Amino acid sequence: MLKMTHLQKIYRTHLIETHALRDFSIHVREGEFVAVTGPSGSGKTTFLNIAGLLEEFTGGEYWLDGVDVRGLNDNARSKLRNEKIGFIFQSFNLIPDLNLFDNVDVPLRYRGFGAAERKKRIEESLTRVGLASRMKHYPSELSGGQQQRVAIARALAGSPRLLLADEPTGNLDSLMARGVLELLEEINRQGTTIVMVTHDPELAARAQRNVHVIDGQVTDFEEDPRLREPRTAPSSHDARDVSAAAAN
Ligand SMILES: Nc1ncnc2c1ncn2[C@@H]1O[C@H](COP(=O)(O)OP(=O)(O)O)[C@@H](O)[C@H]1O
Ligand SMILES: [Mg+2]
Repeated sequence: MLKMTHLQKIYRTHLIETHALRDFSIHVREGEFVAVTGPSGSGKTTFLNIAGLLEEFTGGEYWLDGVDVRGLNDNARSKLRNEKIGFIFQSFNLIPDLNLFDNVDVPLRYRGFGAAERKKRIEESLTRVGLASRMKHYPSELSGGQQQRVAIARALAGSPRLLLADEPTGNLDSLMARGVLELLEEINRQGTTIVMVTHDPELAARAQRNVHVIDGQVTDFEEDPRLREPRTAPSSHDARDVSAAAAN
């Protein structure tokens, strides 16, 4: 579903280079629920944003659902993102002036669905997260846990194969956090692949697999041993990284 090998991401400003991802390899299979942990600044968000095609990378390979992402232009990337990926953020990112129905509608309008199809998808996804009766309410009228459920409904409404969640329980108390995690587990059981970044070891322990990131690298592999092979020709990789960066 998601495969990155020797992925590299360098943020360049005129003064400094930050190596956010250094030699990042991961393979997430269809149907998995993977928790990503690691210290602050280790590259977790950078990884998720690249996985979600929100950011480019400077070297290495990324295959999403069988597609080599490097060869895609902006339009193709957006299309792939809209069709395959749902995003959930720590801060919910709901639009305060829109009620729940209209919040969930936003990405569906981008997808170009007709009104009847959108209404069906909105009602189904709000029902899935237990908020069908609140459709006309506004985000400010809900608890944090409920707001995150709306964000989950918004992510699900487009039927993504892959759900990416960046600290989805970071702003929630432990009871609400557990509720959101249970909802994500339910969604995973129904077939959606989930990659969740979390600070919370208790939540991470409940995922099928944990991936630990330190200093822009995955530190423990419980996966394809071929991903562990060292880079054989560092100099040629470096040359390719430079040309990849130049192409960006
Ligand atoms: N847009 C950016 N420009 C420059 N540096 C960045 C940018 N985004 C992240 N970084 C740097 O990349 C590193 C990894 O950041 P991040 O992926 O946000 O870590 P985490 O999510 O694990 O806390 C950090 O050193 C951070 O300062
Ligand atoms: Mg982060």
